[in-house]
Amino acid sequence: MAEQKRKPVKITETILRDAHQSLIATRMTTEQMLPIIDKMDKVGYNAVECWGGATFDASLRFLKEDPWERLRKLKDGFKNTKLQMLFRGQNILGYRPYADDVVEYFVQKSIANGIDIIRIFDCLNDLRNLQTAVTATNKEKGHAQVALSYTLGDAYTLAYWTDMAKKIEEMGANSICIKDMAGLLTPYKAEELVKSLKSATSLPIELHTHYTSGVASMTYLKAVEAGCDIIDTAMSPFALGTSQPATEVMAEAFRGTEMDPGFDQMLLKEIADYFRPMREEALKSGLLNPKVLGVDIQTLLYQVPGGMLSNMVSQLKEQNAEDKYMDVLEEIPRVRKDLGEPPLVTPSSQIVGTQAVFNVLMGERYKVATKETKDVLLGKYGQTVKPFNPEIIDKVLGDEKKNAITCRYADLLEPELHKIEAEMKQWKQQDEDVLSYALFPQVATEFFKYREAQQTKVDATVADTKNGAYPV
Ligand code: CO
Repeated sequence: MAEQKRKPVKITETILRDAHQSLIATRMTTEQMLPIIDKMDKVGYNAVECWGGATFDASLRFLKEDPWERLRKLKDGFKNTKLQMLFRGQNILGYRPYADDVVEYFVQKSIANGIDIIRIFDCLNDLRNLQTAVTATNKEKGHAQVALSYTLGDAYTLAYWTDMAKKIEEMGANSICIKDMAGLLTPYKAEELVKSLKSATSLPIELHTHYTSGVASMTYLKAVEAGCDIIDTAMSPFALGTSQPATEVMAEAFRGTEMDPGFDQMLLKEIADYFRPMREEALKSGLLNPKVLGVDIQTLLYQVPGGMLSNMVSQLKEQNAEDKYMDVLEEIPRVRKDLGEPPLVTPSSQIVGTQAVFNVLMGERYKVATKETKDVLLGKYGQTVKPFNPEIIDKVLGDEKKNAITCRYADLLEPELHKIEAEMKQWKQQDEDVLSYALFPQVATEFFKYREAQQTKVDATVADTKNGAYPV
């Protein structure tokens, strides 16, 4: 076969979502983002990933920001660039499966408020958990991108991935993403995988990886040479380490070739100059730990995504058990096997990680099983590629194992929206508030209270001014 003519690679910028989620615990505020949007809008990105993932939770919980308001402001600023979000299939942006009506409404409101591309993944790669979100995105005229949650293991063969890609095309997706959240994909494996996917489907292929194990930019190079259409990068101040390869570097790597994205390095420099002080500040305050910026080969050995490691360390710290770090790290692959060898990505990464911590700290495996571990074994999160360990099923579920399901869990769920709305209606100021509450009832309520208090404060100021308390 003749070598295909190569085309310019498209680049999706992640600094407003994954990069700060991976490096500074998702703490970038809307106020920090807005002043640079004008310039970012001129780069010519394929899209800017700026919403979803952990940003929704973090906005409400830590930043006391309305995530919907952030999205609307970003949409106002990005006049020429598509906005992309990350969506956890039936788990939406939360940690448990929701009924279809919540998923559909969330998709509808995301698009109505400004999202163009929804990247949808399932933590078990159970495609049944993606269909509702894909169909809803199609209905709202959004771009539905389905992600393969990339992982390693006997079951994850080239045939497995190509078969999945074909099914994704059939289900109505507009593009496919290889989502390598732990940075496991090495350059020649990527070349092989991209070639197989390209021959199996006609959909554009996007590659998303993390720099954690140090191979990511080489992986992108080989993937793009093999025909990968889009890569995800982050502007250099928030690149590398547990984040993505740097945008400037990848753009430069292809300069003068048919794959050149044609970015203006001077413009990129201005954008990097804007973000650099934020990085320095985060290093100074400790928000950015220099540890996450290095190469971590353990990720290749234990397949643990960067975010999961920092979670685990803080869980151990709380228990004064930091010395158990290596034990937990070694327990993670064992728990993963017990639970059907799923990819480790939210929420399966948290479920496996937390269970591993319990197994080590209790001194006996599965002496305590979390509710989520039980739910995985009951089939509520979907079907895993391998069967569960029967001994663990017996130990954890006991008699309850007769309640295990094999159907799609959401098929058993009654519509939830009306009930949720009734529960929170005293706080509702916009339709979207119902969804914030649906995902994070406690956190959203705290936020709604905070918001009301702020509004009361403003009202009081206005009233005082009217009464002449302040000079006009
Ligand atoms: Co990522």
